[in-house]
Amino acid sequence: MTWEDHASLAPYNTFGIDARAERLVHLETEACVADYRVHPHGYPHQTVLLSGGSNMLLCADVPGTTARIAWKGREVIGETEDHVLLQVAAGENWHDTVLYTVQRGWGGLQNLSLIPGLVGAAPVQNIGAYGVELADSFDSLRFFSWDTGEIRTLSHADCAFGYRDSVFKGALKGKGVILSVTFKLSTQHHALKTSYGAIQDELAARGQEASIQTISEAVIAIRQNKLPDPKVLGNSGSFFKNPALPAEQVAGMAARHPQLPQYPQPDGTIKVAAGWLIEQAGWKGKRVGQVGMHAQQALVLVNYGGANGPELWAHAQRVQASVFEQFGVHLEPEVNLIG
Ligand code: EPU
Repeated sequence: MTWEDHASLAPYNTFGIDARAERLVHLETEACVADYRVHPHGYPHQTVLLSGGSNMLLCADVPGTTARIAWKGREVIGETEDHVLLQVAAGENWHDTVLYTVQRGWGGLQNLSLIPGLVGAAPVQNIGAYGVELADSFDSLRFFSWDTGEIRTLSHADCAFGYRDSVFKGALKGKGVILSVTFKLSTQHHALKTSYGAIQDELAARGQEASIQTISEAVIAIRQNKLPDPKVLGNSGSFFKNPALPAEQVAGMAARHPQLPQYPQPDGTIKVAAGWLIEQAGWKGKRVGQVGMHAQQALVLVNYGGANGPELWAHAQRVQASVFEQFGVHLEPEVNLIG
């Protein structure tokens, strides 16, 4: 466990915002979590947990303690005839972990290639892309409770996964730390998902059949084309969620805008593409000072350099207000606002 005072968080958030943590503690091993819980500067319930920083907007300096999840490790903890159970430490890089599974021919995570961030944060918002969610390959996770200091194993049902949602955004918010995530991955009879149009087009353009490897490569190429690399241009992927609206409301919108991309949901609502709404409202590729919505994907808020959290949030609110004015739709941030 290593402590720093007044540490810059710029290296630890993908917007590259130079906010400061009053105290930053690096938890390099899983055992550090229990030590931290009883440390005089612990205040576990008030702790801001820092994972890959790829889904946070720092609007101010962070008082108290920020704890960085930095422990690593991957281990096969079970095997059946056609599945492997891979347990991965919270501090492992997500994309490296996907590549690790793809290289071994284990199926399940290939559509989730190149998503920034660390493994421990992935269940919190049930990361998803190209027709697949983390929940589809999830077996269980180990959760350290701040209250009791005990480690519980949480099942799929315990986690209450939804669209960019889980129990960790609800009842278990601030209650503890995800230590590791166990994935159930196919070793045979892979269920390959290529229904998302962009994957089919990419595979066709490459003249390739769908496989774990080729889907991963196709997704990497699609993401590199559309989504800015946080190392080059500060961003946190989609800034807003795609709103799920009542079918009647969407019918009314579609009558006026036949091009509106729609995705019917099992519960009868219809998700509409927030990126499309933002583009129609005129924000795609438009820069205001050091911030703007990305030129290739209007759902991505970008920091062109040096913008602070309030500037980025002010722009997000401008976009929100303008989409509401034009379409009567409220866009909800996907990204966590801190401060
Ligand atoms: N669209 C536009 N203009 C834009 C952006 C999108 O018209 O500027 C239209 C597209 O043409 C398409 C539709 O909107 O018809 C959907 O666009 P896209 O396929 O790019 O996906 P998305 O709905 O904008 C979601 C996820 C992404 C994920 C992609 C691919 C959310 C909030 N975002 O974006 O996840 O990679 O689907 O599956 O659900 C993230 O969460 O950070 C993220 C990048």
